[in-house]
Amino acid sequence: MAGIAEAVRRRPVVIAIDGPAAAGKGTLAKRLSQHYDLPYLDTGLLYRGIGKLAFDRGVDLDDPIATGDIARSLAPDHLDEAPLRGHEAGERASRVAVHPSVRQALEDFQRAFAAGPRGAVLDGRDIGTVICPGADVKIFVTASAEVRARRRTDELAAKGRPPEFERILAEVKERDARDAGRATAPLKPALDAHLLDTSEMDIETAFWTACGLIDRSLNRPE
Ligand code: DC
Repeated sequence: MAGIAEAVRRRPVVIAIDGPAAAGKGTLAKRLSQHYDLPYLDTGLLYRGIGKLAFDRGVDLDDPIATGDIARSLAPDHLDEAPLRGHEAGERASRVAVHPSVRQALEDFQRAFAAGPRGAVLDGRDIGTVICPGADVKIFVTASAEVRARRRTDELAAKGRPPEFERILAEVKERDARDAGRATAPLKPALDAHLLDTSEMDIETAFWTACGLIDRSLNRPE
């Protein structure tokens, strides 16, 4: 472990985590950023911020020009996490994220974040394919739609909401179809991404499996 920590310290390291909604990539990416002591960017939050701003201002989420304008005006105080969590915010994010105007407005910021002196962990849909194609390690985290819907149903049930597995499964599938089916920067694994299917794993196993992939990749001779 120490050897890897040193490797991370000696040169910047960029770790790209992509995958579909509710695959657990946010939890995983955050934990990896702590483990490897790297700054972390949740890129989904940027799209969620734009979706919320557009909705609050009565802008049509399907209008590429108006949402592009909003994307260019996005500021850190629009990214207060609490109101951006949840299904509605995710749906709005997914809708504005189809527009090339919106995606383009976020590119420079994401690339500059990744180019910081220590490197970074970024999670999203197109990090390994578009934003950081040269990332040191790319992991595509996935799980079956049924498993993701089950996890989300259980999370909501733990908060006292009635279990609605079928509805949540339909929503997960709809979001997958939109994110993977769009023309610009669709959700897909980079050719050199490691696939991490967490369908049969708990978060602890997923975390240590990801660490193993990262440590092996960073140890590889250049
Ligand atoms: O990761 P998330 O669920 O917070 O993302 C919300 C939506 O934002 C997702 O459904 C599609 C979009 N998104 C994207 O298109 N590209 C990214 N890099 C991150 C998110």
